[in-house]
Amino acid sequence: MAYTAKDYTKLAGMEGFSETLLKNHFTLYQGYITNTNKLLDTLAAMLKDGKVGIPEYSELKRRLGFEFNGMRLHEYYFENLGGKGAINKSGRPGKKMAEDFGSYENWEKDFKGTGTMRGIGWAILYQDNITGRLINQWINEHETGHLAGSVPILVLDVFEHAFMIDYGLKRADYIEAFFKNIDWVAVESRLK
Ligand SMILES: [Fe+2]
Repeated sequence: MAYTAKDYTKLAGMEGFSETLLKNHFTLYQGYITNTNKLLDTLAAMLKDGKVGIPEYSELKRRLGFEFNGMRLHEYYFENLGGKGAINKSGRPGKKMAEDFGSYENWEKDFKGTGTMRGIGWAILYQDNITGRLINQWINEHETGHLAGSVPILVLDVFEHAFMIDYGLKRADYIEAFFKNIDWVAVESRLK
């Protein structure tokens, strides 16, 4: 079963995101789909030919975390965008953030602090699937730092391609624009 790219063109026109930036971002996302399919097919063919345990096989296995997570994290990201209006702090996500971080404002400060860390990657609000606790986490590139079994609740892309066309080096301004467009209904639907 091959993966197929989802259509996020409905995000066009979001305040603070130019059409050029979004179009480039969608194209990039499609590249992760192509490469995930290619890697899985190649690995399956190598397995069939008994080519496991050779360096080429190992390197493709390592690469899969990058391509697959590049695909899936973009889907979480695009799907938690397109909303309008600030969070309702008395809704479920707001209450849970206040419970785990002391206040919604503390959660936001920590999430933005994670998103402005130097480096390329993602800021992800995770919910620990065992305890239900919320944790803001930095993911290096696409594959390093994930919390095993935890569920991504809010996903923010901070690779330079996500903002440089519109904001240059001003990543914090991009994060402000991101916050204006969070789909809090989507966020709540991911929460346990
Ligand atoms: Fe991206």
